[in-house]
Amino acid sequence: MLAETTSFTLDGIAARMIRVEVDVHRGLPNFQIVGLPDAAVREARERVRAATVNCGFEFPLQRITASLAPADLRKAGPAIDLALATALLGAAGELRIEPLADWSLVGELALDGSVRPVRGALAMAEEARENGRRGVIVPTPNGPEAALAQGISVLTIDNFSELASLRKGEIPGRAATPASPGSQEDLPDLADLRGQEHLRTAVEVAAAGGHGLLMIGPPGAGKSLAARRLPSVLPPLAGEEVLEVARIASACGIGDGKISSVRPFRAPHHTVSAAGLVGGGSPPRPGEITLAHRGVLFLDELCEFSRPALEALREPLETGSVTISRARGRQTLPSRFTLAAAANPCPCGRGEDDPGCRCTEISARRYRAALSGALVDRIDLVVAVAQPSAEALAGPPGERSAEVRERVVMARGLMAERLGEGRTNAEAEPEEVAEFGITAAAAGLLADAHRSWQMSGRAHGRILRVGRTVADLAGSTAIGEEHMATAIQFRRRSAT
Ligand SMILES: Nc1ncnc2c1ncn2[C@@H]1O[C@H](COP(=O)(O)OP(=O)(O)OP(=O)(O)O)[C@@H](O)[C@H]1O
Ligand SMILES: [Mg+2]
Repeated sequence: MLAETTSFTLDGIAARMIRVEVDVHRGLPNFQIVGLPDAAVREARERVRAATVNCGFEFPLQRITASLAPADLRKAGPAIDLALATALLGAAGELRIEPLADWSLVGELALDGSVRPVRGALAMAEEARENGRRGVIVPTPNGPEAALAQGISVLTIDNFSELASLRKGEIPGRAATPASPGSQEDLPDLADLRGQEHLRTAVEVAAAGGHGLLMIGPPGAGKSLAARRLPSVLPPLAGEEVLEVARIASACGIGDGKISSVRPFRAPHHTVSAAGLVGGGSPPRPGEITLAHRGVLFLDELCEFSRPALEALREPLETGSVTISRARGRQTLPSRFTLAAAANPCPCGRGEDDPGCRCTEISARRYRAALSGALVDRIDLVVAVAQPSAEALAGPPGERSAEVRERVVMARGLMAERLGEGRTNAEAEPEEVAEFGITAAAAGLLADAHRSWQMSGRAHGRILRVGRTVADLAGSTAIGEEHMATAIQFRRRSAT
């Protein structure tokens, strides 16, 4: 006999629907899966066999063939276990699975029949809806996440034995309640950063305008401390953004299925490969930049990252997405993030101006080469960070993130009016930059700086964008002289 169910497999961060057909035939006992299964899918045979028997169903001692369609799509992971086991019992006449005709099933089976959570449940539930399914049955831990998909019923089960309800013609499972997003409250607070007014301003400007931020300074000055507090001053994710970030996290198996309105913060180690950073490999996996989508990517010890990894960042930084090519076509993944980076001024960390610096001219120059590459040229804000003073460290805590965030949200409101919803000054096109209001004094200041540094055209545009953000944070319609002065300071090092 023949029976069919539907399930899903992940392709990057997208879910694709799979038809699981099972044929049970007289003949020597045998169990075969065809249709490009990966190792985890082939091993499903053993899980399905054990789970079926341990849940009190009869496993057919016949010739079993399971076919996964479309045949040219690689099926990865154990998410189709549940659908496979269900179709098998249907084909064997052990269960009547007609009530599930327009339902899909997702879940990994343990040998005792318990149903384990899978990656990408949210994307799968949405894909089920797109394919006109009435509902989807998922493992209990995936319920809250999958139920975020609108317009489709989501039921959860804990154990394969619950499928026995089909004998009474009932669809198994309990309705899932959608997750409610967690909030900013428990993030590390910018108040922890004492002194460092210049750096605090840079963090605020970066958060408001979506500008890249590079901090250069000696060890222990508070660079990493500041970068880790960036998410707390960013506006929370809103509406569709929450789902977009949740979908990525879920497909990559991070975050325990918890949904959050806090922007992601990713800090890959400097040994990360280019593929680990931007995505790739076989089968292709999203990289850190996709995990940082709509949040912050922090590259600590920037000079230690490999050149190929840093080079690979250039395109996504400009386009907000990354395209991975592979044998079966190309895939474009989202990667709009704010870049934060930290570096010491030289290999020993003290900086050449410090009499204690023991770096040779050559090693210092090689090190600095990493700081003058094409990537750094694309970073809007460059801050020289000095050691905090004893008074600052003993002094009162700085302004709290919640207060800084209020200004950031206000400034983003002004940007949205000017550039369109969700866009920031860092992304403004040259035509839009030309429309920025600017006072004559501010324009004069920029012209002076341009002349004395022989600034590139790109640097010029970047200073204007940063100046616009400083003015937005001050609630000013035109970029004034003091806003421009601040913007120019953040450019000094790399522009000279
Ligand atoms: N401005 C500051 N205010 C409060 N604490 C600070 C400050 N600067 C440094 N610290 C303390 O020093 C620790 C180390 O700072 P952090 O890790 O940010 O240094 P860093 O600049 O990243 O150094 P490295 O170049 O070695 O990575 C912090 O965890 C914090 O306890
Ligand atoms: Mg550090």
